[in-house]
Amino acid sequence: MADSEAITSLSLLRLKERGEKIACVTAYDASFTRLLEDAGTEIVLVGDSLGMVVQGQDSTLPVTMEQMIYHASCVGRAGRRALRVVDMPFMSYSSTAQALDNAARLMREGAAHMVKLEGGRELEATVRALTERGIPVCAHLGLLPQSVNQLGGYRVQAREAQAAKALLDDARLLEQAGASLLVLECIPAELARQVTESLHIPTIGIGAGPHCDGQVLVLYDLLGITPGKRPKFSRNFLADAPDIPGALKAFVTAVKSGSFPATEHSFS
Ligand code: KIV
Repeated sequence: MADSEAITSLSLLRLKERGEKIACVTAYDASFTRLLEDAGTEIVLVGDSLGMVVQGQDSTLPVTMEQMIYHASCVGRAGRRALRVVDMPFMSYSSTAQALDNAARLMREGAAHMVKLEGGRELEATVRALTERGIPVCAHLGLLPQSVNQLGGYRVQAREAQAAKALLDDARLLEQAGASLLVLECIPAELARQVTESLHIPTIGIGAGPHCDGQVLVLYDLLGITPGKRPKFSRNFLADAPDIPGALKAFVTAVKSGSFPATEHSFS
């Protein structure tokens, strides 16, 4: 059940127009969804990062549709106000027909408000087909974790002029195809600024510098509990907070005030 102030694509557009930053965090269960909503997060992303931080896999590739539906429905039962974006897992949108079927399942069975797909111009027809049938789409450019084997690792993307131009062209194409939101992952801050200024739809950055319209972090990175080395673009908000609700509020406040991400969390 959504409350009367539920966040929609339209409210996010208004936030961008007013220059108000958007806060987004990943969520995989009901309890954290409640805490994130209480902290003022506008978007909860049921990310396929759950494959790594919840399941202990090496990548997001093993995550299945059934698992995404399970976690999305846990989040959906707790959700009241935030827009729920749910990742389409690896190879669940390899054709337009398959994407339509699977996106419909994420909405019907997983209570998704919007689905997220990784990729550029090759998804233009799929994004158009989804949005023309009433399925809102969040696009995702830059570092695409589902393509990690092709990219040769988790590294900053589009540093060269040609790749930067291709990314900017892809962003425009996906917006024209109907995307409502765009995640930019691990790209130079200056490129993210250009993309953000070129689009009407909001951009949500992770490792994409301070000029995006909003920021997203993986919940476990934000709390400093992801095993291994902290990614350069994240910050442990629990380190200076009294408890978990305090850390989540500190993240939202830092995004809204523009103090996160700082230069040390960004790439050039
Ligand atoms: O799966 C995920 O958590 C994501 C974010 C890193 C943007 O796609």
